[in-house]
Amino acid sequence: MAKVLMVFGSTTGNTESIAHMIEKKLANGGHEVTVLNSADANPEHLAKGYDCVLMGCSAWGDEEVEMQDDFATFFEGIETMDLKGVKVAAFASGDKSYPNFCGAADVIVERSKELGAELIADSLKLEGDGSSDEDEVDSFVSEVMKAL
Ligand SMILES: Cc1cc2nc3c(=O)[nH]c(=O)nc-3n(C[C@H](O)[C@H](O)[C@H](O)COP(=O)(O)O)c2cc1C
Repeated sequence: MAKVLMVFGSTTGNTESIAHMIEKKLANGGHEVTVLNSADANPEHLAKGYDCVLMGCSAWGDEEVEMQDDFATFFEGIETMDLKGVKVAAFASGDKSYPNFCGAADVIVERSKELGAELIADSLKLEGDGSSDEDEVDSFVSEVMKAL
């Protein structure tokens, strides 16, 4: 059993719904999952004691990627999170009509790699709340679980 931390940022609840879908599937796989809304999370040493950190965030930019407000604030302190050597993957909700579909996930992945995290799965990028893409959630979770 691995200890998994999930942190999400969500304005209308879509990324939050995806986070809870992932949470249920990981818990069914026997893993211990802690889910935090980035609005209530302090990044300092947050990854300590976890085997894996999953981060999810929607994008709100147009030409450029702007992270969801609460997550953007959380992300400013990500270097204090102790991600070195920690298994990491990202997920996002977005809208394909925007140029950077789910671009926040790419930002999370790049920064986490710079901080020494080990990327364990391709990012899960879904439209809306993910309820019509359960297969993609399943694939993401099984890729994550293989690495735990
Ligand atoms: C002004 C604005 C900008 C947006 N920019 C993007 C974007 O760059 N890329 C993307 O995939 N979705 C974009 N979206 C769509 C939202 O990310 C999408 O609705 C998402 O499901 C919201 O998730 P949340 O409820 O978890 O915050 C944008 C939406 C608005 C209203």
